[in-house]
Amino acid sequence: MKITADELRKKWMDFFTKRGHTPISSASLIPENDPTVLFTTAGMHPLVPYLLGQPHPAGKRLCDAQKCVRTGDIDEVGDASHCTFFEMLGNWSLGDFFKAEMVPWSYEFLTKELGLSPDRLAVTVFEGDADCPRDNETAALWEKCGIKKENIFFLGKKHNWWGPAGQTGPCGPDTEMFYDTGKPKCCPECSPACDCGKYVEVWNDVFMQFNKTADGKFEPLKQKNVDTGMGLERALMNMQGLSSVYDTDVFKPIVDKIKELAEVKDDSVETVKAVRVVADHIRTSTFIIGDERGVTPSNVDQGYILRRLLRRAIRFGTTIGLKAGDYSAVAAVVVDKYKDVYPELLAARDKIIFEINEEQARFSRTLENGIKEFEKLCKFLQTDVIPGKSAFRLYDTYGFPLEMTIEMAKERGFTVDVDGFNARFEEHKNLSHAGAEQRFKGGLADTGELTARLHTATHLMHRALKEVLNDENVNQRGSNITPERLRFDFSFGRAMTPEEIKAVEDKVNAAIKADVPVTCEEMTVDEAKAAGAVGLFASKYGEKVKVYTMGEFSKEICGGPHAAHTGELGHFKILKEQSSSAGVRRIKAVLE
Ligand code: ALA
Repeated sequence: MKITADELRKKWMDFFTKRGHTPISSASLIPENDPTVLFTTAGMHPLVPYLLGQPHPAGKRLCDAQKCVRTGDIDEVGDASHCTFFEMLGNWSLGDFFKAEMVPWSYEFLTKELGLSPDRLAVTVFEGDADCPRDNETAALWEKCGIKKENIFFLGKKHNWWGPAGQTGPCGPDTEMFYDTGKPKCCPECSPACDCGKYVEVWNDVFMQFNKTADGKFEPLKQKNVDTGMGLERALMNMQGLSSVYDTDVFKPIVDKIKELAEVKDDSVETVKAVRVVADHIRTSTFIIGDERGVTPSNVDQGYILRRLLRRAIRFGTTIGLKAGDYSAVAAVVVDKYKDVYPELLAARDKIIFEINEEQARFSRTLENGIKEFEKLCKFLQTDVIPGKSAFRLYDTYGFPLEMTIEMAKERGFTVDVDGFNARFEEHKNLSHAGAEQRFKGGLADTGELTARLHTATHLMHRALKEVLNDENVNQRGSNITPERLRFDFSFGRAMTPEEIKAVEDKVNAAIKADVPVTCEEMTVDEAKAAGAVGLFASKYGEKVKVYTMGEFSKEICGGPHAAHTGELGHFKILKEQSSSAGVRRIKAVLE
C-alpha cells in the first residue's frame, strides 16, 4: 500500500477515535518529570503518571503521534532503517479495555486499514517467568483472529517485556507484530527474535501491569493498562514497499535537498551513508532545537547530544562537499515538511537556523585541525590501537566526541583504547554535572579542561583590559570560573564602551589565533616581579610562586591549571560588562 505519512497518521487517529479514544498532541521531546533520561523515548513516556493511576483530563482512552529521540543506536544511523528521531503512533487504555479488545483491534488495523495479508503476519507473546505468567490468553486471541499457530512465537523477557522508559516506572509483558518479508527461514529455529531480516517489527502492544521499583522489583499496578507503539517511519517503509526509511515520503525532500546542495552524483556506499547521516541528524537536531522546551548545543545533557548529532552530521557532510550554511538549509526543508503537524518548528524556524549555523561555525574552527591531528596520529602509530590519551585529546581539544574518533579509527582498520579514554575521562570529570555524565557515559566534555581554558582566557583578558583601557591600575578584584563561563571583577571607574569591549575580545581572540604555548615556571615573588609578571594577592604566596607565560601576551603569577596552548580556547566572547561595586566592574565571558 502506498500510504503517505500524513495519511497513516490520519488513519491511526480515525481508527482509534471511532473506538472511543481521544486524540492528544505530542508532548515535548524533553521529559518534564523524568530526570533519569534525556529525551522522550516512547509515546507512553509523558503518560507515566496516568499509567500509575492519576486520572488523565482527556479520559481513559487516548491516541497520538509522539515525537521521540533514541540515541542508543546513533552509530547505526546510515544503514537502511535506524533513525535517532522518529514518530511513534500510539494508543492507550488507562485502566479501561485490555487484551480482549486490543488484540483484535491490532489485527483489524493491520489487515483491513493497512491491507497487510494475514499470512504475512507473525506475532510474539510472553513465555512467562517468575515475575509474570505465560500469556496464553493473548496467543489464543491471535489465533482466534486468524494468525496461524506456527506464526505465534513465545519468547522471554529479553524480547517480550517492555519498559520502564526510565530506570523505574510502568512496564509489562508485550505482544509484538511482525511483517514476514517472505525471505526463507535462516535456520530451523528462525523466529522474529533473529535479526536475519525475514521478520520486520511493525507494532508493539504492551500490557502494562507492573511498576518497576528502584530496587528492581516488579509491583502490580493499581490498574491494568494498554500501551501500544508503531514507529511511523518503519511502518511507512514496509507499506511503501521500500528497503530504506530514507526513501519514504518523510525523508525524500530532505535527502533530495542534501543531494542538490552537495551535487551528489554517485551512489557509492560511503556517499549514501553520508547523505543518510546528514538527513537523520539534521532532522533530529531541528526537532530538538525547535521543541517547545528546545535546547541549544552545549556540553551537558540534551545540549551535548545535540552537539554530537550536529558534529557527526558536519563530519559526514564535509566528505560529500556540504559547506557552511548547507546544514541550516537542510533544516529549513525539515521545518517545511513538518510545519503543519508540529507547528512549534515553524515558530522556532529562525532559532533553528541560527543555532545550526553557529555550531557549524564553531566546529569548523577545530574540525580541520582535529582531522590533521588524527592523520598525524595514524601515521606515527606503532600499533593499530589509538591510545586513550590521544582520543581524549581529540575529544577535549578538538571537540571530537569519542564515538567520532572510534568511527574514524574503524575506517582505517584501527581501534581505540576506550578504557584508556575512560580512565582519562574519569580523572578529569566530577566538578559539576556529574549526574549528566552518568546519564550519558563517555559523552560529556570534561569540566576540568573547560575550566582550565576559561582560566587561560581570564589571563589573556586581564592583559587585554590593561591595554585597551590604557590603565595599569586595572587589576583583578575577584574571579569565579565554572565550566561554562568566566566571571572577572576588576578595578575601573566607569562602564566600558562597546568599542572597548570589542577591542578586548579582538585582542584575546588574536592571542588564541596565535596558538602560543602556555608555559609555567617556578620562581620567587621578587624574580616574578622582575620578570614583569602581574602579581596578585602577593601576600598569600609562599616562597616560590608559579608564573604562567602565554607568549608575548601575558605573564601572571597563578596556581593554574591552564590550557597547554592558547589555540585550544576556541572563540572568546564577552556576554556582559556591568558594575559590581563602587569602582569595580564585572565581566562575564564565554569560550565558544
Ligand atoms: N512503549 C512501547 C514501545 O515503545 C509501545 O515499543
